[in-house]
Amino acid sequence: MDPTNVQHILASDFHSFNHRGITISKDDLLADNILLMNGNRWKLVRQNLTPLFTSTKLRAMYYIIDKSAIDFMELLKSKPELLKGDVFDTLSSFCSAAIGAAVFGVDICVTLQKNGKLIDKESGLELEPTDELLAAQAFFFFIAGVEPTATAIFATLVELGRHPEYLEKVQNEIDEAFIKNDSKMSYDIVSNMSFLDMAFNEAMRMHPPIGFLTRECVRDTVLPVGNIKVDKGTRVFTPLFEYHHNEKHYEDPEVFKPERFSPENKHKIADISFMPFGKGNRVCVGMRYATLQAKTGLIYLLRNFTVNTIIKPGGMRYSKQQVQVRLDNVDIEISPRTPRC
Ligand code: HEM
Repeated sequence: MDPTNVQHILASDFHSFNHRGITISKDDLLADNILLMNGNRWKLVRQNLTPLFTSTKLRAMYYIIDKSAIDFMELLKSKPELLKGDVFDTLSSFCSAAIGAAVFGVDICVTLQKNGKLIDKESGLELEPTDELLAAQAFFFFIAGVEPTATAIFATLVELGRHPEYLEKVQNEIDEAFIKNDSKMSYDIVSNMSFLDMAFNEAMRMHPPIGFLTRECVRDTVLPVGNIKVDKGTRVFTPLFEYHHNEKHYEDPEVFKPERFSPENKHKIADISFMPFGKGNRVCVGMRYATLQAKTGLIYLLRNFTVNTIIKPGGMRYSKQQVQVRLDNVDIEISPRTPRC
């Protein structure tokens, strides 16, 4: 839990902790993806994937996400039964459509293949962007674009549905953006909605879709605080959920306070105490894409519908999953809304 040691593991002593710590079978072709790769192969694939998520690329692919969100609204309006029942499942269908189109469409995978052989000048390692290698990356992107992204949208809706005063602020901001921009959203408009950003970050703090980070030590080393010896082969877990709920880092950690992330306050949050997308060299590659997709879904949803949270008897809790943290015992009631023009 010590922040200096955590920083050491995730960033400063990356050479000792660059391994994800998950063993995969060599025959499992789809497991040969960037999340589970290690060593020079990981470095090479990461180097080649990172440029696919720059703001220029996201700006260019925004129309795909936007179209998926508009289609999603049509779907909800034509099938009102989707507004009741398993809302998480309904949100997942938007996420599948958006990530599917973005990953398998004109950009990401095709671009990678067009660029030809991946070469690491330092180590001399060369990788052929075969269909199998690309399928493995696309497979993981698809998983990441659906489950954790739908979890993030769900958590934001749950918190807004329990806090009507914040819901109204977000909806006002969205309405204003639609009015000002002739109902045409863009990467920049979505990114500049500050109240939405605050609410989204606060929901990710309280309910981070991934509960902990994993690393494996690849050479004997020592953690600076407490002089803790770590042997090669040791797996280390960073409990990010606990960080997000620690009173040392957040006053009233169980209270939803989007103001923590306001432009005037967010500098007070220590870098290491907010890590829904991880930290350091193996931080989530899709962080900005996922945020864009989740916010776009929220914008269209909250423009056309309103939400009310129903906590079932026994109170809100988390479903038991290996890595994911998903809210449970709670429903969201979605009802049509007449937006300000
Ligand atoms: C809200 C949605 C998402 C959340 C909360 C999330 C969170 C995370 C976390 C916690 C990690 C581990 C980081 C670490 O160990 O330091 C991670 C890794 C990763 N994520 Fe995401 N992620 C999300 C969506 C996405 C999407 C949509 C993509 C791709 C389009 C993506 C691609 C990746 C990749 C490739 C890695 C592995 C990075 C590496 O090992 O180098 N993620 N994500």
